[in-house]
Amino acid sequence: MAAGLQNRVVRIARPIDGLPGPDDFEIRVEPVPEPGEGQALVRTIYISIAPGVRPLMPYAGERPDVAQDSSAGRVDASADAVPNPSRIRVGEAMRAGMVPSDSKFAGGTVGRVIASRHPDFRVGDYAFGGRYWQDYEAIDGASAIRLDPAELPIEADLGLIGRSAFTGWVGYRRICNARPGETILVSAAAGSVGMLVVQLAKADGLHVVGIASGADKCAFVTRELGADACIDRMGEDVGAALDRLCPAGVDIYFDNVGGAVQRPIFDRLKPFGRLIVCGMAASYCGGGDTQLPTGIILGKRLRIEGFVVLDYDDDYPAFRSEIARLWREGRIHYRQLVYEGLESAPRALADCLSGRSSGGKILVQVAPDDSRAERS
Ligand SMILES: NC(=O)c1ccc[n+]([C@@H]2O[C@H](COP(=O)([O-])OP(=O)(O)OC[C@H]3O[C@@H](n4cnc5c(N)ncnc54)[C@H](OP(=O)(O)O)[C@@H]3O)[C@@H](O)[C@H]2O)c1
Repeated sequence: MAAGLQNRVVRIARPIDGLPGPDDFEIRVEPVPEPGEGQALVRTIYISIAPGVRPLMPYAGERPDVAQDSSAGRVDASADAVPNPSRIRVGEAMRAGMVPSDSKFAGGTVGRVIASRHPDFRVGDYAFGGRYWQDYEAIDGASAIRLDPAELPIEADLGLIGRSAFTGWVGYRRICNARPGETILVSAAAGSVGMLVVQLAKADGLHVVGIASGADKCAFVTRELGADACIDRMGEDVGAALDRLCPAGVDIYFDNVGGAVQRPIFDRLKPFGRLIVCGMAASYCGGGDTQLPTGIILGKRLRIEGFVVLDYDDDYPAFRSEIARLWREGRIHYRQLVYEGLESAPRALADCLSGRSSGGKILVQVAPDDSRAERS
């Protein structure tokens, strides 16, 4: 069945210093896998690109202290002195998904079934559940989801109703405890998590200020997502901008990045303000360490809360139906930025990590998406 097909697989070539570059990966042509019993063979169409995969990749030097990694701070952490089942090692195929493999949300790609040995998947079906940067993948039917292109675009499971959007929903709805009239500040506001937080908070009547890099992304955050203002972290001093935009201070900081941006925000949080720790994108490539100003936290009675979306799987159906409905009604925007071709995946990841993009959820398109024609 796989005769004449070639499977390009992107593998990690070496431990990586900082921001990944093209030489940190190699593309090998390998046999197309044969689906085993209970599996379906899927032609990858879209791959999700997310910054949180970087801490799972090998570091050439010291592993940064990100997300409770017990090997943080070790020199040559890539030597796997501390085993971590999620870690992607040199020589292994690059992974798109970060969710533990026993979850039905473990996928990071969507594609089309070309052969099946699972009763729920037929040739021609679209499926979410692939995990790797490659052309073809034999996926377990039990942990995959069959997609209905008539309901939503097939790539929605990586974007609009994907894990990052769900993270924004969980963080805002379950953690922020936001009240109308409060001021919320959202970093990486043009990214997949930030896009949701900005729009949900605005719809609830909060004063919403985003942080993003570049005038174009800031314009996207204000004009399309509806934020009241957006601070260009590369073009202006964040503290001075906050003094201008939020003279009475900030009630909630929804922090997607950590790093140096965080410090001036502590000074501008109101007494009893909240810092919601969602991500540390500023640290994933090394550097960007944060130091908590304990005196300010104590004096202002600040509350700091981290959360991990994996703890909220039971909320997924509520999130999915709410966001799908708002999108169909044209009440929510979700920008996608599609990079063409498997070979563009390393660049897409670097742009996502650094913010060198025009904003939105970054996807890599590996093969034509026939579902678009079938929808229309
Ligand atoms: N807690 C959870 O369960 C969970 C789940 C999923 C994701 N996350 C985290 O949520 C965050 C957002 O995810 P996403 O997928 O929406 O990412 P994203 O916004 O698409 O990408 C990360 C963004 O961080 C910003 N950034 C990068 N380096 C920075 C620096 N040095 N200083 C300040 N900002 C910097 C850039 O945006 P600008 O250039 O526009 O500022 C970059 O585009 C990530 O940290 C991710 O790991 C958490």
